[in-house]
Amino acid sequence: LINIGCLVGLHPGNTRQLKGAQLGELPLMENAWLLCEDGKISDFGKMGSLPAQLPNALHTHDAKKGYVFPSWCDSHSHIVFAASREEEFEMKIAGKSYEEIAAAGGGILNSARKLQHASADALYDAAALRMNDMIRQGTGAVEIKSGYGLTTASELKMLRVIRRLKESFPIPVKASFLAAHAYPPEYKNDHAAYIKLITDEMLPRIADEGLADYMDVFCEQGFFSVAETDELLAAAAGYGLKPKIHANQLSVSGAVQLGVKHQAVSVDHLEVTDEAVISSLQNSHTIATLLPSCSFYINIPYANARGLINADIPVAIASDYNPGSTPSGNMNLVVSLACIKLRMQPREAINAATLNGAAAMELSGETGSITKGKKANLFITRPMPSLAFLPYSFGQSQIESIILNGKIC
Ligand code: NIG
Ligand code: FE
Repeated sequence: LINIGCLVGLHPGNTRQLKGAQLGELPLMENAWLLCEDGKISDFGKMGSLPAQLPNALHTHDAKKGYVFPSWCDSHSHIVFAASREEEFEMKIAGKSYEEIAAAGGGILNSARKLQHASADALYDAAALRMNDMIRQGTGAVEIKSGYGLTTASELKMLRVIRRLKESFPIPVKASFLAAHAYPPEYKNDHAAYIKLITDEMLPRIADEGLADYMDVFCEQGFFSVAETDELLAAAAGYGLKPKIHANQLSVSGAVQLGVKHQAVSVDHLEVTDEAVISSLQNSHTIATLLPSCSFYINIPYANARGLINADIPVAIASDYNPGSTPSGNMNLVVSLACIKLRMQPREAINAATLNGAAAMELSGETGSITKGKKANLFITRPMPSLAFLPYSFGQSQIESIILNGKIC
C-alpha cells in the first residue's frame, strides 16, 4: 500500500497511444492511496475512501505527499556496447560533424570493432550497470537494439546478452535486431552481399532462437537506402518481425513513408521532416518516437514535435542511449528536453515518456499508466510544488523511491 501521494497518469482502461489533444490530458488524483498485489496495481482512491478491509501481510509505504508516477518507458536504446567513445566527443568539440567522425573510422564501425572482441560476460556486466542506472532514474521498461555486431556471430552475441538482461532484470525488455546499422568495411562495395547475409543467414538464426521482437534499420544517406530498407523489412516480415526503424535523423529520405507502408510500430528520430512526412503518418498506426537528447548531444535539429502533435500523430519520447550520439539514458532529462526544445507541455512530455513509450514497445496493455491490472512499476518523487516542477528542475532528479512489480527497490 502506498499512501498519501498524488497519483499521476490514471488513464482509465486506456491501453492505446495518445494523440493530438489527448496527449496533454494526464489525469491526476491528489491525496490518494494505491494498492499493489501480486506485482500489479489492484486498486487506488482518495485517502478518505481507504477500504476498512485490507489484505493481510500488508506493507505500507508513505509517499510523503510526493507524486507517484508510472515508470518511464524507454522505447529506444542501444545499451549493449563494449566501450565508450570520448575521443569522438573531443573531435565533436573541435568542430567535426557526426558524419565526418564516422567517415574517419569512428562511429558505429568503431563500436563494432570493439564489440567483436568483447566477451558476452563483459558485455552483459557493462550493460547491466547501465540498466541499473536507468532504473534508478525511473525507467521501468526498455527496448534494446543489437547493431554493433555486424557479423552473424557478434549480432547473435549481442541479442543473447539482451535476452540475459531480460531474464535477470525485473522490468519488461524488448529486443530489436539492427544488423542493418552500418555496412561492415568488407561489404563497402558489395551491399547486396551484406543484405543477403542478413536475410539468408542472420534472420533465420535469430527467428529460430526467438531472439528479437522487432527489425530495425538505419535508413539514411551513406547507410541503408530506402530500397535496401524495403528489402530488409519485407524479409523480416516473413519471420514475424515488425519494423521499428531509424528514420530521417540526418536527411529526408523516404524512410518514414516506407515505415508506414510496412506498418512499423514506430519510426524513430525524425529530426528532419517535411509536410509529406507528417501527412504519411496521419491515419497510420505508426508512432513517431522523438529523441531530443540525441539532438542535444550531436547538435542536430530538434524534431517538429508540435507539427506532429497538431497533425494528430501519436508522439513518444525515448533516450537513444548509445556510445556515439547519446551517451545518457536519463529519461528525466529527456522529458525536460522535450519541454524545453520540442516545446511539449509537461503533461504531453510525461505521457510521451510513459503510455506512448509503452505503446512503442507494444506494452501499453501492461505498463505506462496507473491503471488497475497493470504492472506496478512506479516511482515516487519528493514533494513538489507542482507536476511541472519535474521537467522544470532539469538535470536534477526528484525521484525518492522506485517500485518495481509492487516492491520497493
Ligand atoms: O540512434 N543513428 C544510428 N544509430 C545511433 C547512433 C549509433 C552510434 O553512433 O553508435 C542513433 O543515434
Ligand atoms: Fe538509435
